[in-house]
Parts: sequence; C-alpha cells; structure tokens
Amino acid sequence: MDQVFLCDVGPRDGLQNQATLLSVQQRLQLVDGLLQAGVPLVEAGAMVSPKAVPAMAGSDELLLALADVKSRLQVLIPNARGYQLARDAGAENVVAVICASNTMNQKNVRMDTLDSLTQISQIQQQALADKVRLQACIAVAWECPFEGRTPIAAVMSLAAQLYECGIRHINIADTIGAANPKAVKDLMQPLVRGFYDVTFTCHFHDTRAMGLANAFAAYEAGVKHFDASVGGLGGCPFAPGATGNVASEDLVMMFEQMGVSTGIDLEQLMVVGQLAGDFTEQPTGGRAHKWRMLQLEKGRTLC
Ligand code: COA
Ligand code: ZN
Repeated sequence: MDQVFLCDVGPRDGLQNQATLLSVQQRLQLVDGLLQAGVPLVEAGAMVSPKAVPAMAGSDELLLALADVKSRLQVLIPNARGYQLARDAGAENVVAVICASNTMNQKNVRMDTLDSLTQISQIQQQALADKVRLQACIAVAWECPFEGRTPIAAVMSLAAQLYECGIRHINIADTIGAANPKAVKDLMQPLVRGFYDVTFTCHFHDTRAMGLANAFAAYEAGVKHFDASVGGLGGCPFAPGATGNVASEDLVMMFEQMGVSTGIDLEQLMVVGQLAGDFTEQPTGGRAHKWRMLQLEKGRTLC
C-alpha cells in the first residue's frame, strides 16, 4: 500500500496566531492526543522569542515533559540561538525557517535571507555533531505578502544553496495559502526531479480553499510528506492574510479514501480537533470533521 507521512503542526503553527493563549499543560494534552491518534510526527513548539510569539513560550518545558517520545516531535527555530535552546531541551528533529523573499525574512526573523542561510549552514554542522535531524523550511515559496509572486527560480536557487549546506530535508511552505494546484506542480516537479536525494515536505494553508487540491498536486509530483494542522488551526502573525493550515482530518480522509495509508486513526484525530477547538474557543475547521460526525450519528463506518 502506498504511504504518506503527516506532521501535525497544530501545536506550533496552529497555536502561534490564536487570541487565546494555551497553557503548557493544554498544549501537552494536544500533542499527546495527536501521538495517540497515530500521527507520526508532531511539531510541538518553537524556540522563538516569547516577546515575538507569546503562544510559544514554554516550548522547552513541553519538550522536556515529552522526553520519552522525542523522536516523534519536531520544533521550529528561527536562528542559531533557537537551535541551542532546542538541542538543550532534547529536540531530535528541528526545522529552521528561511523565507524565499528578503522582506518576509526580515519581518519574520529580523535578518536578511543571506544571513539566515549562513546561520543554517553553521547549524547544520552542529546538528550533524549533535545527531539532530535538521530540516529547512522555505517559507512564502509561492507568494509573499510583501513582494508578491515568488519566482520558481528563486526557490530552486535557495534549495540548491540549502543542499550545498548539507540539508537533505526541505519543507516547501505556502505560508499565506496563495498556491494553486498548477503552481504546485510547476514548482514541486522540478524540485523532486532535480534533488533526487532530498526529502520534500509540503506545507499548505487553506486560505483560498485549495489546501487539499494543492496537497494532491504535490502528491502527484512525488511528494510523500505533508504538514497539516488538527482542526485546521493556524496562521502566521508576521504574514498578513495567512489563515489556518489545511486540516489534518481532511488530508487523512483524502489519502485514506485514495487507498494511501497515513497510519492515523481519523476518529481519534477528530477528538483532538474538538479539544483544540474547545481550548482555542474556535470552531473546528476543515470539512471532514463535520461530515464524519454526521456519518457516525447514522452509525456508518468509514469506507
Ligand atoms: N529564542 C528565544 N530568544 C531568542 C531567540 C530565540 N530563538 N533568539 C534571540 N533571542 C533573544 C536574545 O537572546 C535576546 O534576549 P535579551 O533581550 O534577553 O538579550 C532577544 O531575543 C533579542 O535578540 P535579537 O537577536 O536582537 O532578536 P530580535 O529581537 O531581532 O528577534 C527573533 C529575532 C528571531 C528571535 C524573533 O524575531 C522571533 O522569535 N521571531 C519569531 C519568528 C516566528 O516564530 N515566526 C513564525 C513561524 S515561521
Ligand atoms: Zn504555516
């Protein structure tokens, strides 16, 4: 059976933009629920300035509390300091973010893209020594809220520079949800073909209702790793217009119904989606949740 690998970024991307701040205990409950539902990897938090992103304060505490499952956790970092904090908290999987546009990089991590690249190169050397797996995330890979459409050549070039740094796992992120299936194919096909020994993850936001279609286009281009957010939570505080990620429940339902295994129990995932909605005081997003609830009420099994 064909297989895809989902990383639920709800406890990071999903929570970083919420008006309601969750306690570390509540965040722990969400991460634990996602792991119990069979989600292979969970982005549990971010080692960022608590002044810049108050919702991510205490991410180190969270990681330390989850030490026994740390191989299934991932943490986002904006810079070298973030890497040190992540490593000291026992992180085994780290994602360093870099933006395809210089303006967005400045707004997000307060340095030029070139400086981020230099830091990522140094972090990669350190990560190898520490036996930490480093992934680089190219944000605003299709469109930047400040500079407009991102040229394919710019992403290809950044991917090549990351490859030169030794990076072999690259996340291509549609931070503001502006991609469409054709644009996804046009970018992901040359990336997958051109960097045959790189693992690509695609990260879609559902701002224009194209999250699922974009994920399918990426899958058709050969991508097997996807980010999604339980309950469709999400958004970036530094990217105007960014709304929630594609809902994990929707992605799981789509792939499972296509006969592609995710290893995730949809019903258990829905319980976590409900919990996330209750904690954040937001309605649970995505479409699969509502549909499946109706099916369950009628006593129908998923097929
Ligand atoms: N985590 C926690 N604290 C950090 C840090 C990190 N990764 N990097 C720097 N700091 C601290 C510094 O130690 C310093 O602390 P001090 O005031 O006690 O001396 C303070 O933050 C300022 O350091 P500086 O290097 O000047 O940072 P800055 O103010 O330019 O902010 C970032 C840079 C990257 C830390 C900040 O913009 C940030 O955290 N952004 C978050 C980006 C994000 O999460 N985006 C959404 C996801 S893509
Ligand atoms: Zn995102």
